[in-house]
Amino acid sequence: MTQQAVTHGRWSSRLTYILAATGAAVGLGNIWKFPYIMGENGGGAFVLVYLLCILFIGIPIMMSEVIIGKFGRQTPARSAVLMSEASGGGKGWAVVGWSGVLAGYLILSFYVVIAGWALAYTWYGFNGVFEGRDPAQIGELFTGLNASPGPLMAWSAVIILGTVLVVGKGVRAGLERAVNWMMPALLVLLIVMVIYAARRGDFMAAFDFMFNADFSALSWNGVLIALGHSFFTLSLASGIMTMYGAYLPEQTSVVKTSIWIALMDTMVAMLAGLAIYPIVFANGLEPGAGPGLIFQTLPIAFGSMPLGQLFGGLFFLMLVVAAFTSAIALIESSVAWLVEKRGMSRMGAAFTAGFGIWSLSLLTVFSVTGAPWATVSLWSDISITLFDLLDYITANIMLPLGGLMIAIFTGYRVRKEITCREIGSVKSIYAIWRISVRYVAPIAITLVFLQLIGVLGL
Ligand code: PFF
Ligand code: NA
Repeated sequence: MTQQAVTHGRWSSRLTYILAATGAAVGLGNIWKFPYIMGENGGGAFVLVYLLCILFIGIPIMMSEVIIGKFGRQTPARSAVLMSEASGGGKGWAVVGWSGVLAGYLILSFYVVIAGWALAYTWYGFNGVFEGRDPAQIGELFTGLNASPGPLMAWSAVIILGTVLVVGKGVRAGLERAVNWMMPALLVLLIVMVIYAARRGDFMAAFDFMFNADFSALSWNGVLIALGHSFFTLSLASGIMTMYGAYLPEQTSVVKTSIWIALMDTMVAMLAGLAIYPIVFANGLEPGAGPGLIFQTLPIAFGSMPLGQLFGGLFFLMLVVAAFTSAIALIESSVAWLVEKRGMSRMGAAFTAGFGIWSLSLLTVFSVTGAPWATVSLWSDISITLFDLLDYITANIMLPLGGLMIAIFTGYRVRKEITCREIGSVKSIYAIWRISVRYVAPIAITLVFLQLIGVLGL
């Protein structure tokens, strides 16, 4: 048994693994990000492309990542190197692991600020702040929260501190037990919201918007955003799934568990869309409202529904929990690196990583408060906030490129016997996986990039 397997043990069961991996996958990406980027990119066609990316690119690459971890049973970079060496290759594939650590770190810097919004809204919800407010006043609440940096810094600091303490103390096991019932609770609350939205909102308009694919509404940049989001939402190319795979029991099926995780993640995203858009359309709000969408819509429902104070508080609390389990996964790889390479204690490493995240998070805080220095102009006619830039570079560039490397690594570099041993029990599934990582994923990712830099001119 390797060092890591000895010190960290294996998942006690397939279910524990699925819950932990789903906990990392389901988060702000599903409930906060998916609905608003769908709205910004025209709805149905975006959803369709997103679903295709999950199915033919995301799931196969998730399997690739898990088998790298399961093969090496080490940190992501080490596992990739071991797998490469076992196939007669060199150490260079460690890059597959390292690029993920960097992407995860940058993602966390804005993730904590959004989680801070959710925490503020938990407070508002339980205190009945949404009650009796009309849509305009709900909008003002959000604007008010973002008026000055102080409160935002405080809310996100609470999130960071919680993450640091949990990871530093190594009490993830306890947390995962709590998550066992909180994730199902989040699902139930989402379903309650969808039912409420179906009865009181404009459900038909929402359904039509989400599932009627109008390709004239989708740009190539929108296609890249759908592709990038399929990586973001499944926590791919960030070392997470490799790390989790390292603890996977020998007999557990990589194929079944990956499909299951992707299914749950997709279901939560769809439910979030179906809860939010009926409210958007019934109140004449803008689908392309941007990152504040969920905070400007759901509170309208909480403010007018029976038991809205309780439901509102609980809903945002569950959102915080979902964000929290993802944040823990995101910080874990940097902490593991500081412990292993720098010989720090776990707590010291967690605080060091946390302080770095906090400093970086200020870029996002000042972006949302509208500080002039936090808006940069890329070309003479395009200027964007540092938050948007960080989000774009990580989700839409670093993750797809990382995924491309993982697909090529496991599709071409790793010997077929090795991949076949892990996912080859059903021949047809193995064939589909191999076609996906050798052809579909690399070609699709490359085409989208070439089109966007203007080489193809489609
Ligand atoms: N998958 C998470 C979400 O959808 O909110 C975000 C995320 C977590 C991305 C962990 C990357 C990661 F490594
Ligand atoms: Na997700």
